[in-house]
Amino acid sequence: MNTVDIIVAKRDGKKLTEKQIAYMVEGYTRGDIPDYQMSSFLMAICLKGMEREETVALTRIMKNSGDVVDLSAIDGIKVDKHSTGGVGDKTTLIVSPLAAAWGVPVAKMSGRGLGFTGGTVDKLESIPGYQTTIPEEKFFRLVNENGIALIGQTASIAPADKKIYALRDVTGTVENLSLITSSIMSKKLASGSDGILLDVKCGRGAFMKTEEDAVALAEMMVEIGCADGKDTRAVITDMDQPLGCAVGNSLEVREAIDVLKGNGPEDITRLSVILAGLMIHMGGKANSAKEGVEKAQQALDDGRGLEKMKEFVAGQGGDPAVVDEPERLALSEKQLEIKAAADGYVSGLDAMLIGQASQETGAGREKKEDDIDHGAGILLKHKIGDAVSKGDCLCILYGKDEKKLQAAAKRAEKAFTITKEETQPRKLIHQVIGGEIE
Ligand code: URA
Repeated sequence: MNTVDIIVAKRDGKKLTEKQIAYMVEGYTRGDIPDYQMSSFLMAICLKGMEREETVALTRIMKNSGDVVDLSAIDGIKVDKHSTGGVGDKTTLIVSPLAAAWGVPVAKMSGRGLGFTGGTVDKLESIPGYQTTIPEEKFFRLVNENGIALIGQTASIAPADKKIYALRDVTGTVENLSLITSSIMSKKLASGSDGILLDVKCGRGAFMKTEEDAVALAEMMVEIGCADGKDTRAVITDMDQPLGCAVGNSLEVREAIDVLKGNGPEDITRLSVILAGLMIHMGGKANSAKEGVEKAQQALDDGRGLEKMKEFVAGQGGDPAVVDEPERLALSEKQLEIKAAADGYVSGLDAMLIGQASQETGAGREKKEDDIDHGAGILLKHKIGDAVSKGDCLCILYGKDEKKLQAAAKRAEKAFTITKEETQPRKLIHQVIGGEIE
């Protein structure tokens, strides 16, 4: 077999065999195939696409490139939840304790943020003392004792994806259904849970810009998960505007605490309750998804979700007092407000621009090695559908560096569209694939 022949075959739109795909993925992971040839191969996939069988094979090869975790030492049906990436998406911090409160074991491994989208591990690390890397034995013990542990993904899970994703990120080859499917599902299938709940984002701040593309991605991922014997479901949700009002690490932890106290923004509260409800049903603790959603709402209303958050924070060395006193979480000292230039209604709030502006405040990284400022980010004061008067504060930016904050403010300002005509709030949940919720 020959690398160039395989690249040429894909360039010419041919269907590849499992052996050819394995040759490329395994060769690249070992370091035998250089970045320039793999980039060319990935671009050929983006331009010519892959058939279903090729995508299934690619996922299997990437999953088996590293360890496949065995969670059988943890009792119960383990359910994992994964978002395809977005801005202000802190649902993992909320749904995990809500599901754990009903006895669904949550043994979750998450990633860091890259580019304009955030990552759960960075958010958790904004809690003083919280350890996202703990010995495996402690991870299992915490899930068995507290019902929940949230850690960073270990290097041994799907190493092929780690290497390929880093290359895709800098070669314009992220937005492809087969590549996204194999990247996400290889990691999820290797993480060992029994069920996988996917939150597939669509809109300006998501990889999939239209509902149609998001549904196609969701259906492919659900099919691959089910074929591997996992109960896999997907929810298609809006990412045209950010989720909730907080964007940036400690700001998002504060908002997650607010949601668990019953004081959070409506959109993120509703989505979290639905996702947690589906997890409760998938974990066998409710007879239907609808009952699961009711139970998730109960755990939020009676404070059990909040108590679970304290437990998992303390279990991993974090300061549980942040839950009662969120002001203990870092907040960068410099602030800048953006004001409405005219009376009207917010008719657009571009999630991607807000994500990029948040990254510019210091909350995100451009390269994997970059340090981040946990106290930086953006707090939105108005969202789509809100009426505003000239001079009203639209959002506050937090950061340490005045120049960066000014640049971020310019970008954030462009994210808002204010029109004279009244606008309606956006629909948050488009579809559920694999389970009725109402
Ligand atoms: N998230 C991933 O892990 N991989 C992708 O390709 C896109 C989003």
